[in-house]
Amino acid sequence: MSRAADFKPFGVDISLDDGTMTDPDTHRIVKTSTMHGYYLDETALERLIEEHGDPVHYEVFEPKIPEQDGHVRTCISKLYPGRVGDECFFTKGHYHTKLHTAETYLCISGEGLMLMKTRDGECAWEPFRPGRMVYAPPCWAHRSVNTGDAPLVSFCNYPADAGHNYGDIVDEGFPMRVFIRDGEVVIE
Ligand code: F6R
Ligand code: ZN
Repeated sequence: MSRAADFKPFGVDISLDDGTMTDPDTHRIVKTSTMHGYYLDETALERLIEEHGDPVHYEVFEPKIPEQDGHVRTCISKLYPGRVGDECFFTKGHYHTKLHTAETYLCISGEGLMLMKTRDGECAWEPFRPGRMVYAPPCWAHRSVNTGDAPLVSFCNYPADAGHNYGDIVDEGFPMRVFIRDGEVVIE
């Protein structure tokens, strides 16, 4: 059985200028075509894919850290700016499979907000701006939204055995959506 002490210390370089991690072990690239069913205006999503060649929606850079109790997983989340109709680009969002696990997001650049909700219908949002830490408590599903014109980059940390439950968000959706209308951010 592996002992936590067998895992060796390491470091990674993060570019604060362009929101990337040098030599990540995992680089997840999420294209717009995987976002079917998430936005209000499905026709606008299809048009975006057709006219803009399926743009990258967001990227996640991660070093390899065991998904085991005691470890902390860490990543850079880079969400591109854009709109589906007038709805701001967002990440798929998830609960942690191990529901009683929290997460911290430190916004490095860009602007936006974090939508959060519990299973019993409570919801909340917190603004993202450079230097602001947002805390997603245990039991709160979380989704980042980019309301600006530049990538929204965050540095995230969470218990390594948390796991990700996307399916329940596909089924339930989020009770709040974020739009840009007449140049203003509208949350409804
Ligand atoms: C990890 C976490 C973030 C997200 C990232 C992409 O628990 O919350 O690193 O994984 O912002 O969003 P999702 O995972 O919802 O596609
Ligand atoms: Zn998470």
